[in-house]
Amino acid sequence: MNKNFIKVSRIKKIEADISVPGDKSISHRSIIIASLSDGISKISNFLMSHDCLNTVKAFQKLGVNISNTGECEFVVEGKGLNNLKTPESKLDFGNSGTGIRLIAGVIASHDIKAELIGDESLSQRPMKRIIEPLSKMGAKITARENNYLPLIIEGSKLKGITYELPVPSAQVKSAVLLAGLNSSGKTVVVEPMKSRDHTELMLKYFGADIKIEAGRIELNGKKKLHAKDIVVPADISSAAFFMVAAAANPGSKLIIRDVGLNPTRDGIIGILRRMGAEIRIEPSSEKFPGWDEPRADIIIEGRELKGTVIEGKEIPVVIDEIPIIAVAACLSNGLTIIKDAKELRVKESDRIKTMVQNLSLFGADIVEIPDGMVIQGGRKLKGTTVDSFGDHRVAMSMAILGLYADGETIITNTKNIETSFPDFEKILKSIR
Ligand code: S3P
Repeated sequence: MNKNFIKVSRIKKIEADISVPGDKSISHRSIIIASLSDGISKISNFLMSHDCLNTVKAFQKLGVNISNTGECEFVVEGKGLNNLKTPESKLDFGNSGTGIRLIAGVIASHDIKAELIGDESLSQRPMKRIIEPLSKMGAKITARENNYLPLIIEGSKLKGITYELPVPSAQVKSAVLLAGLNSSGKTVVVEPMKSRDHTELMLKYFGADIKIEAGRIELNGKKKLHAKDIVVPADISSAAFFMVAAAANPGSKLIIRDVGLNPTRDGIIGILRRMGAEIRIEPSSEKFPGWDEPRADIIIEGRELKGTVIEGKEIPVVIDEIPIIAVAACLSNGLTIIKDAKELRVKESDRIKTMVQNLSLFGADIVEIPDGMVIQGGRKLKGTTVDSFGDHRVAMSMAILGLYADGETIITNTKNIETSFPDFEKILKSIR
């Protein structure tokens, strides 16, 4: 079936108990770090999305034995550090900024050569942010206009550096740390604003010589990692779509099971609570000693929502949820201001522009500002036809808004949802 659109209409009440698939950021990292470890790791509840499967394929091409042993389960025969091989063909990362930027750090620090490519959207996203620190470590990387794909990386012996992140980006931080694993000496990353910390937490779990402090991560290179089993928690960024759907609908109640609640990712909960939603967190049964990734069940009860301000240090911890927060703002009363979020302009689409354009088509009162958007909530919304602009999170956000618009909403160009949340439409139908 080649359906490339989603049709939605108004929903009444949501009463459901759902699970969403595994976390995208953690799924990528589980393959990367297990591949560089000594021993065999089993990864369960892996996110079987295009983005994460491209990371699996890349490591298979780099000589790692990775087998799909069950539903959402992979077994990785780790190669240890310094044992990757030059791939026979280009490594294609499709739509994935995380895959390409993290693995660039790995390849740069190994004695191999590779060409890294991606789709049209990824080919327009900035790579200078990783080329710069990796070059300082001694890497040889060429790129179109020194910023865009394809990247040609000739791996070499790198040395650790101290790097202060100019943008709050977990992808840049991770590229440097992963390069630091196979570099001589100490690699230090200083981050003025905390971004997601899955790389450092997983490296610690796998036995890396790493010190994690507020705003500073220190890693000693050339130390062995040891295989571990991982059960990936559900992705809070996928859960967020359904959290908003229930939160904005008084009388609704939704339970989402075993969601990853890492404090560098859970900003959506505080924001929805501030907007008036009732959210409870109940411990889930899964526990993994030594791996500091909290997980819990989330119970959301719908209320009349009100506007809020989202800015500064809160932005990095909700960076992927801002499109669906903009939807919540349209469904609330009062003013919502989102600022300090210019990183949104270099995501899978320019999410400030694409969200403002699409929400306006529904009749929302929304204005674009250079680093965000200003939304006056409470306007009557009418169903319409909108495009995803090739961006999975824009597509899913529009589908949720369509549940609260009059008439029918059609979202076109929705195949990209498979990059992060292949079962989105199935779950959307199940909550009706
Ligand atoms: C990610 C980091 C974020 C986020 C992306 C996933 C990661 O990107 O937007 O979806 O897994 O490290 P930036 O590091 O560019 O902010």
